[in-house]
Amino acid sequence: MHHTTALASYPSLRGQRVFITGGATGIGAAIVEAFAQQGAQVAFVDVAEAEASALAARLTALGYPPVWWRTCDVRDIPALQNAIRQAQTELGDFFTLVNNVASDDRHALEAVTLDYYDERMAVNQRPAFFSIQTLVPGMRRLGGGSIINLGSTGWQGKGTGYICYSVAKSSVNGLTRSLADTLGADRIRINTVSPGWVMTERQMRLWLNAEGEAAIARNQCLPDKLQPSDIARMVLFLASADGAMCTAQEFKVDAGWD
Ligand SMILES: NC(=O)c1ccc[n+]([C@@H]2O[C@H](COP(=O)([O-])OP(=O)(O)OC[C@H]3O[C@@H](n4cnc5c(N)ncnc54)[C@H](O)[C@@H]3O)[C@@H](O)[C@H]2O)c1
Repeated sequence: MHHTTALASYPSLRGQRVFITGGATGIGAAIVEAFAQQGAQVAFVDVAEAEASALAARLTALGYPPVWWRTCDVRDIPALQNAIRQAQTELGDFFTLVNNVASDDRHALEAVTLDYYDERMAVNQRPAFFSIQTLVPGMRRLGGGSIINLGSTGWQGKGTGYICYSVAKSSVNGLTRSLADTLGADRIRINTVSPGWVMTERQMRLWLNAEGEAAIARNQCLPDKLQPSDIARMVLFLASADGAMCTAQEFKVDAGWD
């Protein structure tokens, strides 16, 4: 099984400060853990207080550097900005930002009200932009940085039941492309990491069924199911000095689905 193979460690990530949104569960939690394993200084926000607290306690028990976390609903942009500024004051400027938070709730075209549409954008689209805006001055002070925006391969297929999520996730590539040139002048890199169908606790509980299993077998080139840690490995590379000349790109980790 490929998931049990010994994996790379990155000297450049040791002591590096990383800010992650939606870090309590799923892919975000795997990213938090992967950076902690590398000896990075991780800070994250999430609404899920119990899960966040349990993750931080588990990582501390494993002997990793203490993880900084705050409860924060990212739909509240001033609250998100306050949490970022508080982390910066307590820990220092962040070299890496991982825009991970999202929510893939389902809906029919007819059911979407203006308020619901705006709420979906508030979770899935706005937090990345305003997190970047808040953290870039610190990256400039450090002389560089790495921004990793979680995109998706979901919208790149067709027939999904999550229209608003697709609208928001498709805009991630535009966010990455539109900022790469401006930020690149200050050696701040920005990339999209687009997962295929990853077996998070939420995906397995809510959406994976026999039909889904068959779709995975039919569409993926590789037989194994994608794990959150598979996405985290790509994120580590892009944050590390090994990824120094990668910017403005989309990196898919989808077992060859597309
Ligand atoms: N799982 C997949 O198959 C898959 C596929 C493609 C892309 N992605 C992308 O990967 C990223 C992570 O997805 P995931 O599957 O781990 O999601 P998830 O739903 O499992 O986890 C999302 C995390 O964000 C938190 N969160 C949700 N709403 C919040 C809010 N308003 N404020 C603060 N925190 C909030 C949740 O508590 C949770 O910890 C997302 O950007 C998603 O679009 C996932």
